[in-house]
Amino acid sequence: MKIANIETPVLVVDRPAFEENLRIMDGLLSKSPMTLYPHYKSNKCLEIVRRQLAHGAGGITCAKVSEAEDLVAGGVRTVVLANQVVQPEKIARLMALAGKVDLTVCVDDAANVAALARAAAAADVRLKVLVEFEVGLNRCGVATADEVIALVQAVARCPHLAFDGIQAYAGQLSHETDAAVRRTAVLETERRVRELKAAVEAAGFPCRHIAGGSTGTVADKPADTPYTQLQAGSYVFMDSTYAELALPFRPSLYLLTRVLSVRPGRVILDGGVKSFTMDQHAPVLPDLPGVRFELNEEHTILFSPGREMRLNDLVRLIPGHCCTTVNGHDRLLVVEGDAVVDEWRITSRGRAQ
Ligand SMILES: Cc1ncc(COP(=O)(O)O)c(C=O)c1O
Repeated sequence: MKIANIETPVLVVDRPAFEENLRIMDGLLSKSPMTLYPHYKSNKCLEIVRRQLAHGAGGITCAKVSEAEDLVAGGVRTVVLANQVVQPEKIARLMALAGKVDLTVCVDDAANVAALARAAAAADVRLKVLVEFEVGLNRCGVATADEVIALVQAVARCPHLAFDGIQAYAGQLSHETDAAVRRTAVLETERRVRELKAAVEAAGFPCRHIAGGSTGTVADKPADTPYTQLQAGSYVFMDSTYAELALPFRPSLYLLTRVLSVRPGRVILDGGVKSFTMDQHAPVLPDLPGVRFELNEEHTILFSPGREMRLNDLVRLIPGHCCTTVNGHDRLLVVEGDAVVDEWRITSRGRAQ
């Protein structure tokens, strides 16, 4: 099929740019102690996961039990759930997965450690645990080495839990546009994490893994980083928020829209905020730089686009935030030049539990 015949609005992936992003990440990690555990939240698509694993990913990171279930059903053997799982019903589902694959979960609470230990013992499974350390995002995680060590000791007392290391995701740095500020802050996080690792190991607990990192900070990591698992996700697609950072990755994800109406002084496209999200940034129109636009639910209104546009002309939008945009679509059409070369189902669309 030709792009001209695609029904719009639709999310498309530019295959050459997508594949180049995989290779760029390979290059960034080639001399690094980090192994990529790409975050599933950014694509929710098993077709992409398979390609990431073929490029050497050590496992897949996800945020939800339902995502982990889809990954395991899709054949992924190593899954890191970089989040807390506290609801008893979800803990039961976690144990069903722990019996099948190499599964890791995060903790930041002693009562949760006890609940996981009881469930793992009852199911007779072994669950790996990362203790989450708070490094400035103000989300989950304990704040001091003493609190981390107390949780590590609690994990170590449970025969069905295995302490595997530290989760330390400094997400507040990912979109820092000042490269010098970002790098300084990344190095400060590295210093704190290195210090924590030394304290935990001095207490008698080897940290096999330090997990975290993002698309925005991977290039700032020093060669001797203490991190071992890189959880970047957006790098495969990029978006208009990350475009502000001058990172080495290329945009590969577009919302393809069509001209629906041409009125004096304005042109209306057939896709709006029901086709992409606005939680981080407005979309960017790479083919119409500088053109002012307004967004409605099902329409984008271009004002004085500066060139003649006709009904059915195609217009590309780069979504503001790839991860949340993908979650609103059923499929990705893979394109190369003017041809549609593949179609990938967004396996875990809407999987929020
Ligand atoms: C736990 C965790 N790791 C890593 C990331 C990095 O993702 P990205 O590379 O898409 O910025 C995120 C983003 O939300 C995250 O929550």
